[in-house]
Amino acid sequence: MASPSARRPRLAVLVSGRGSNLQALLDAIAAGQLDAEVVGVFSDRPDAPALDKVAPALRWSRKPRDYPDRAAFDADLGDALAACAPDWIFCAGYMRILGPAFVRRFEGQVLNVHPSLLPLYKGLHTHARALEAGDAEHGASVHFVVPELDAGTVVAQVRIPVRTGDTPETLAARLLPQEHRLVTAVLALATAGRLSERDAQVWLDGQCLFSPLQLDSAGELHPGSRA
Ligand code: GRF
Repeated sequence: MASPSARRPRLAVLVSGRGSNLQALLDAIAAGQLDAEVVGVFSDRPDAPALDKVAPALRWSRKPRDYPDRAAFDADLGDALAACAPDWIFCAGYMRILGPAFVRRFEGQVLNVHPSLLPLYKGLHTHARALEAGDAEHGASVHFVVPELDAGTVVAQVRIPVRTGDTPETLAARLLPQEHRLVTAVLALATAGRLSERDAQVWLDGQCLFSPLQLDSAGELHPGSRA
C-alpha cells in the first residue's frame, strides 16, 4: 500500500471554454514542473472544448438551465467536486459566478485566473478596457474566489507592457502565455502546501503577504517586487 506521503495533491479544474490554461497545467504536470494530479474537470458548458483535454471518466458537465436555480446547480457541482476530494479547485476560464454557499463550502481552496491587473477591470473585455484607459502595462492575476466577481484576495500577478498599436487581440495573445506561466507557478506553491488564505489575507510559508506576488521573466514568484 502506498504511504500517505506518496499521495499527489489533487487538483480539480473548472472550465467553460477552450481550455488553454487547463492544457498548460496538464503540460506542467507531464513535464514534472507541477506535482499534482488532475482528478476532475467540471464545466457549465457540455460543449466546452476544454473537456476534451482529459479522459471521459474525469469529465463532469451539466447545463445550468436544467436546474431550478443557481443554488441547485452549485450544490450539484459541489457534490461532484467533493466526491473527488480535491485539495485545490482552480477556475481556468470558468465563466459562471460561484454562489456564496459554494464559496463557503470550499473556502480557501478555490483559485481563479483573471486577465487583468486586479483590482483593475473586473468582469469582461479586460484587454479593450486597458487599452481604452491608455494603460502602460497590463497583466493577469490569480486570486482566491469570493462570491463577488473577481474580488477575492489576489495571490500573484504577471505584468506585460502595452505596445503602441496594440489591439485587444494582440494584447490578449501576448498575455496568454504569461498567464499560463503564472497559473503554473501559483499552483506549484498551492499544491506544495505553501499557500493559504486567512482573514482575507494570503499567507505564503506562514508569512502574511501584504501585496501580490509578482512573476519574473524566469517564471519565479517574488513577494511584492515587480519583475
Ligand atoms: C483566460 O484568459 C482567463 O484568464 C479567463 O478566461 C480565459 C480562459 O482561457 N478567465 P482558456 O479557456 O484557459 O484558454
